[in-house]
Amino acid sequence: NATDEELDRRILKAKEVLGDGVVVLGHFYQRDEVVKYADFVGDSFQLANAALTKPDAKAIVFCGVHFMAETADILSAPEQAVILPNLAAGCSMADMADIDSVEAAWAELEAQFGTEPDADGKVPVIPVTYMNSSAALKGFCGEHGGIVCTSSNAEMVLTWAFERAQRVLFFPDQHLGRNTAKAMGVPLEQMPMWNPRLTLGGNTAEILQDSRVILWHGFCSVHKRFNMAQIERARGEFPEVRVIVHPECPMEVVDAADEYGSTDYIRKAIAAADKPTTFAIGTEINLVNRLANEYPQHNIFCLDPVICPCSTMYRIHPGYLAWVLEGLVEGEVRNQITVDPKVAQTAKIALERMLAAKP
Ligand code: 13P
Ligand code: SF4
Repeated sequence: NATDEELDRRILKAKEVLGDGVVVLGHFYQRDEVVKYADFVGDSFQLANAALTKPDAKAIVFCGVHFMAETADILSAPEQAVILPNLAAGCSMADMADIDSVEAAWAELEAQFGTEPDADGKVPVIPVTYMNSSAALKGFCGEHGGIVCTSSNAEMVLTWAFERAQRVLFFPDQHLGRNTAKAMGVPLEQMPMWNPRLTLGGNTAEILQDSRVILWHGFCSVHKRFNMAQIERARGEFPEVRVIVHPECPMEVVDAADEYGSTDYIRKAIAAADKPTTFAIGTEINLVNRLANEYPQHNIFCLDPVICPCSTMYRIHPGYLAWVLEGLVEGEVRNQITVDPKVAQTAKIALERMLAAKP
């Protein structure tokens, strides 16, 4: 077992040898011991863009989770290799929508609504997938006129979709879909959850008829932990507290917070505060702790008193980073993520629609 010092020396040495031939990307939720080696640190949208900014790097080492590395592979140049230091770093939410179930849902929606546009040229349904999804689902969206969103652009993307469709099938995260559509004025009764036989009951076709957003049943196991009692406790202890939560939190938590937004929104809100402030944050603990260290003038804490890391993000350990970087030095690409070219082609269409969509 290598010591921290040894790993530090090995990673820096490999990075020095590889120079511009490698770019290391790190998501905000990565632990500090990994983030310190990243050339770019950001949210999932920023990192998708960052993958595009280094076309000369032969390898992109993605310190994040599987769907992020897949996205980088889809967007990067064909000769670039995308590497996920630990292949077990997945995302439980992304796994909650599989392509077969989504295709089955789509077939039922087509059977009910057909495919013909209405008098305004709007198709009956458009699929929108959260970035936190497999490449196959992004490909499905590309194929069916749909688009990808992230937590930082979900409202803009839903606006894009409503300009083209009467309703949206949104997957996998019910909370991001519900919180975003609610903020745009869509009534809750027009946001049924997909899974007619299990959750809708009654007359499925009737319930779906007036829908605007049909929500998949996925959720994030980290953000699901945030609750009203935590917010009440924070407000009781610090009456002036600013509560900011991620939109993957349940609706009542987002409603009770002062603000909500993506990881980058949270970071910017704290950076912009010009007087010492108490912030209670509803998102992953590694980001919250890093912000607390970066901004000691503020009192920053996580709403959940029990440590809540994203266990799969945490699977990226400096030891794996050293191992994949040293592989590159030896000319060996370890833990490459390769999306099937056919899937990548349609997934890229959906991703490019997102990158091109303007507010
Ligand atoms: P961001 O889109 O804010 O980076 O979040 C990604 C994520 O996995 C949140 O749980
Ligand atoms: Fe997935 Fe939640 Fe982890 Fe984000 S925090 S990667 S949504 S499990």
